[in-house]
Amino acid sequence: MKGIRIVTILLAGGLLTLACGGGGGTTGGSSSSGGKIGLLLPETKTARYESKDRPLFEAKVKALCSGCSVLYQNANQDAAAQQSQAEAMLTNGVKVLVLDAVDGAAAAAIAVKAKAAKVPVISYDRLVTGTDALNYYLSFDNAKVGQLQGNALLTALNGKANASVVFINGSPTDNNAKLFKQGAHSVLDGKVTVAKEYDTPDWSPDKAQQEMAGALTALNNKVDGVLAANDGTGGGAIAAMKTAGVKPLPPVTGQDAELAAIQRIVAGDQYMTVYKAIKAEAEAAASLAVTLAQGKTPDSATLNGKVNNGAIDVPSVLLVPVAVTKANIKDTVIADGFWTKNDICTADYAAACTAAGIS
Ligand code: BGC
Repeated sequence: MKGIRIVTILLAGGLLTLACGGGGGTTGGSSSSGGKIGLLLPETKTARYESKDRPLFEAKVKALCSGCSVLYQNANQDAAAQQSQAEAMLTNGVKVLVLDAVDGAAAAAIAVKAKAAKVPVISYDRLVTGTDALNYYLSFDNAKVGQLQGNALLTALNGKANASVVFINGSPTDNNAKLFKQGAHSVLDGKVTVAKEYDTPDWSPDKAQQEMAGALTALNNKVDGVLAANDGTGGGAIAAMKTAGVKPLPPVTGQDAELAAIQRIVAGDQYMTVYKAIKAEAEAAASLAVTLAQGKTPDSATLNGKVNNGAIDVPSVLLVPVAVTKANIKDTVIADGFWTKNDICTADYAAACTAAGIS
């Protein structure tokens, strides 16, 4: 909890500096000078993008800049479609692109085209790799996400010898998925048996369910833990185990603190998730985008690091992820206003919420 607060405060300071950087044209916090800002998100199967990232980003741009507008597209996991969407935005005269890439390597072509048009690119959440045409990167410490998942699983396994763990990783085209996987392996390798491991195309929950069903058949249902990279893939793995009659369910990890996952944690079907303060991420991106759309130079003090993308060190802001189990739902996602008690404790979960001390 301490971590979340500190980051939020740091960011709030950063947001102010970013919004005022360069001075001039600002009245009452909202400036009329600005222009079009392009926001490109990668998919719709994961709840965060349409329910959190997009509305929070748009609201912050509106609050900071009356002269700005947001052009929005979601690529539905299609990298070629995302390239066309970006090109259309460049033709349409956007002054900055905020890009959450479907395919981090392929998206280098988008950054190169933007650079040729003198349009800065902010890599949002996922890093665009292998190009010097990238200006900024805003995300979380993604190796840490995998470490939190691995450590939580070890806690849940409670020293069990030769525990058999199935890894359901994310999409192989997402640089974050690579980092989550590395982080989890750095904690679990040598301590558990990696019985089966899959990279899940498109982060698809349906494909995760198929992968888990295959693992259960191959392992005769003997699984002691599931390292699922996010809540969507974790949900798929849990569905496969329920169908195969696995009882009790072994500990399953996740990420995103999706409402459905928080409810599964309350009910005891999922062991943990990783909360990432998407509001802080989306608002920092909006603030940086407004600064750039207004032709101002962001204050470098607001960027807390550099991340190498295989071509250059990209000025970056990396936020801190937090592990969430039944024991700290109240002190994390509820305390931070990500979900309310009423969101979580619907009729089906009322008794489990009371037992968990949430209602
Ligand atoms: C994001 C996760 C998300 C996943 C699937 C990752 O790049 O960091 O929050 O669950 O993509 O969209």
